[in-house]
Amino acid sequence: MNACHEDLTLWLDEDSDELIILDQTKLPGKEETVSISTARALYDAIRTLQVRGAPAIGVAAALGLYACAVRFEDETPEGFLYSLRKTKAFIASARPTAQNLFWALERIEKAADGGTIQEMLTHMRTEASAIFEEDIAICRAIGEHGLSLLKDGDTLLTHCNAGRLAAVKYGTALAPVYAGMERGMHFQVYADETRPLLQGARLTCYELHRAGADVTLLCDGMAARLMQEGKIDAVIVGCDRVARNYDFANKTGTLSLAVNAKFFGVPFYVAAPSPTFDAGCATGEDIVIEQRPGEEITEGFFSARTAPEGIGVYNPAFDVIPHTLVSAFITEKGVIRLG
Ligand code: MRU
Repeated sequence: MNACHEDLTLWLDEDSDELIILDQTKLPGKEETVSISTARALYDAIRTLQVRGAPAIGVAAALGLYACAVRFEDETPEGFLYSLRKTKAFIASARPTAQNLFWALERIEKAADGGTIQEMLTHMRTEASAIFEEDIAICRAIGEHGLSLLKDGDTLLTHCNAGRLAAVKYGTALAPVYAGMERGMHFQVYADETRPLLQGARLTCYELHRAGADVTLLCDGMAARLMQEGKIDAVIVGCDRVARNYDFANKTGTLSLAVNAKFFGVPFYVAAPSPTFDAGCATGEDIVIEQRPGEEITEGFFSARTAPEGIGVYNPAFDVIPHTLVSAFITEKGVIRLG
């Protein structure tokens, strides 16, 4: 699993059985990794967005739960399973919206299906490795299918970060860009800065620029004008959860993009790995939206506070986008056209 760490966002260190993540809160200034082997560290890493993006959260939870379980001190299988369920519930409470978190934790718990503690650990490790490898394959396939919707020279608009940093290796919304670059194609990518946590400015611009892609940063509120000017061939975003009727959640600001894309007749594509589909959600109304601390808006990345003390702050981390605004979902199995 850790033969080569080049361009991986996270992995399991095979010697120490620790989860290693690239600390995304330090980017773009510093490329630093963090080693994780306790429930508290894993919870904090997900909660504080050291690891973020739905697929990456899922894989981190899978590898991380295994790394924690290796260190449980229980002497009986019953005690081990009790610790496992307690740790799983704690990690699941770190962030409520990305479906991949719950999906991955379920898979690891199911893998601990009886036998000795050592046998359960072996099965959990195999399952965590499978989730890791599947993410790479899924994103690669999304890249190929996404390319079928684009043509060489297209100008794309994306929001937040649904690239390599949001998954193990290729990302989802940016996977077609990388797949196209491998074939010598050229895309111009406009990246919304993505208030308040600036995943677009810090992460999307960092990873695309580092890969030699053509990336241009804009403030979120400028996207409508770009579309009005006829400069955007397609909007392409990732997602954190897709309901059965194809309503979906993605980073706050995505709804405005979708409404504007509809208004200006720009195709709106959503890259969606199958683990992000939630059969338990009938519509977008069932998706739980994370509320985050107001300080992310009033202080965040600024050296001085930018709003008066004592005011109310509205800071939902995600939008729910009605399926009627979506042109197509791009999954690893193919393209699902809606509009
Ligand atoms: O709060 P974040 O940074 O985890 O939000 C991430 C997004 O909204 C991404 O667009 C989504 O997870 C898709 S990642 C392939």
